[in-house]
Amino acid sequence: MMLSTVVVTSLVCFSVFANGYIVNPGPKYVATKGAVWPQPQNQIISDDFYIVTPRNFKFNVKGASCTLLTNAFERYFKILQQNTLPITGKKYKKPLLLSEGQYLGTLHQLEVNLIDSCDENEWPTLDMNETYVLNILEGAASLTSESIWGILRGLETFSQLLYLGVDGLSIRINATSITDFPRFKHRGLLLDTARHFIPIKQIKQVIDGLAYNKMNVFHWHLVDDQSFPFVSTTFPELSEEGAYDPELYVYNPTDVQDIIEYARQRGIRVMPEIDTPGHTRSWGVSHPELLTKCDGVVQGSYGPIDPIKNTTYTFLQKLLTEVRSVFKDKFIHLGGDEVDFDCWQLDTDINSFMNDHNISSYAALEGYYIQKIIDMADNLNFSSVVWEEVFKNGVKLPNNTLVHVWRDWQGSWWNDTMNDVTKAGNTALLSACWYLDHLSTGGDWESFYQCEPTDFSGSEEQTKLLLGGEACMWAEVVNEYNVVQRVWPRASATAEKLWSSKDTTNFNTDEEQIRKRLEEHVCRMNRRGIPAQPPNAAGFCL
Ligand SMILES: *[C@@H]1O[C@H](CO)[C@@H](O)[C@H](O)[C@H]1NC(C)=O
Ligand SMILES: *[C@@H]1O[C@H](CO)[C@@H](O)[C@H](O)[C@H]1NC(C)=O
Ligand SMILES: *[C@@H]1O[C@H](CO)[C@@H](O)[C@H](O)[C@H]1NC(C)=O
Ligand SMILES: *[C@@H]1O[C@H](CO)[C@@H](O)[C@H](O)[C@H]1NC(C)=O
Ligand SMILES: *[C@@H]1O[C@H](CO)[C@@H](O)[C@H](O)[C@H]1NC(C)=O
Repeated sequence: MMLSTVVVTSLVCFSVFANGYIVNPGPKYVATKGAVWPQPQNQIISDDFYIVTPRNFKFNVKGASCTLLTNAFERYFKILQQNTLPITGKKYKKPLLLSEGQYLGTLHQLEVNLIDSCDENEWPTLDMNETYVLNILEGAASLTSESIWGILRGLETFSQLLYLGVDGLSIRINATSITDFPRFKHRGLLLDTARHFIPIKQIKQVIDGLAYNKMNVFHWHLVDDQSFPFVSTTFPELSEEGAYDPELYVYNPTDVQDIIEYARQRGIRVMPEIDTPGHTRSWGVSHPELLTKCDGVVQGSYGPIDPIKNTTYTFLQKLLTEVRSVFKDKFIHLGGDEVDFDCWQLDTDINSFMNDHNISSYAALEGYYIQKIIDMADNLNFSSVVWEEVFKNGVKLPNNTLVHVWRDWQGSWWNDTMNDVTKAGNTALLSACWYLDHLSTGGDWESFYQCEPTDFSGSEEQTKLLLGGEACMWAEVVNEYNVVQRVWPRASATAEKLWSSKDTTNFNTDEEQIRKRLEEHVCRMNRRGIPAQPPNAAGFCL
């Protein structure tokens, strides 16, 4: 025991010494060339390669087509051009056939075969088919998928396979064969636009990043205590009085449709969150009657939504009806987190209502409220998502309600919650290990990457109820100047954990390779205009 302690101590000292004083020139992790992020489920790759001249490259439609497809071709054609080097006066010569595999000639086109029809008005859904097959083989290059969503994922992969050859001049793509599909259906990012207003431009950059990481849900945490930037046509006073600024810091109906369509074009769902009964202080600026008066705690203050008034429910019915007509996704996030019971406790009307209705705890009162809201959403043809507190407070949830697991501390470890939720037969989402507002030293995506979503002691049946997860960008200390940098590439770790197979994403065995691939992926995002921060250590992008 003593001996091993001594050995460990001296190793630690040595490594501090080594890291502190011995530094080699050059980047710490040399980027890979043409490696795909997230890692495909199946890929066979050869050293043999083609040369691609981006400005002459063509996508050829073999199957069905529609503007979703032709718009994607336009986007990816532009992305291909970003691989073109600045004109330096140098021209590449036919590459020398050293030990780098066989030169297969020039690749002029990718044949794109969409098997199903392509409906102009198609919407991405939880169950969309994202499977695709991409073959870059001698004599032919083809991308095949049954659905437009699979084609979009495959085009992203194709664009990532291009790299700058060892001659420093030619753009290459290796012969490869890929069959790919996601491990989980729901791969999202939550963005809070209430603590700080995030302009449309940065929201679109975040959505571009989702597409480059094959994520498929933009969870829009629209409103919160601090501000109400969503412009409601039914209750315009909510943002007129509750936004930070009624003109500058709001999302008007055309902005919202712009974001929804921008995401749809990229195969990304937009799931709105209307968080109640807590986190609603900004609603009360124009509608104080909705909230519980809380003079007992602080004179003139307000607490959560008042759950005993009929007018509360009439109001929410109207607001959710509008939200239903604005957002096209099947799912709405109804929140339900962090409800402070102090104000309810001090309210005599609420206490006598609880007596009359045989409601024995404030958690049960929250349950009474949220049950009504879930039913309301259900009647509007929404499926609901709720934060885990709703489940923990014992609300009987319809079995299509998704429970969003986010807490991870003593008494509330996520693995235990996930076990309980799925044991009860509810579907679930995980976010507990992917809070982007929690920062630690260096490229702290490593801890995100080491989180294995199925590491809870549930049966195989339970594991199937885990539909995926989300990285969460709460905006207390981010705004337009740092939000994109803080999200990328840290959320890329979440993206890979949710897309790629468990075997190929083991940080303990593949750390070096994962770091090198992320090094390349960050440079790729940078080239495409996303100010992703460096992932690892000292280095540079070509
Ligand atoms: C609220 O609604 C309930 C059920 O519809 C009804 O019984 C009750 O009288 C209403 N209360 C008020 C104050 O209108
Ligand atoms: C009140 O709730 C308790 C415990 O759930 C139950 O035993 C009792 O029958 C209820 N009373 C009424 C009047 O509903
Ligand atoms: C409810 O949603 C389903 C699936 O999204 C859709 O097919 C159906 O038409 C909707 N029903 C109503 C009444 O809106
Ligand atoms: C949910 O409940 C409905 C009705 O009880 C049932 O038909 C369905 O199979 C259930 N779904 C799941 C996933 O358990
Ligand atoms: C869940 O994780 C906690 C903290 O890492 C651990 O102490 C606990 O044993 C785990 N529970 C199960 C059921 O694995």
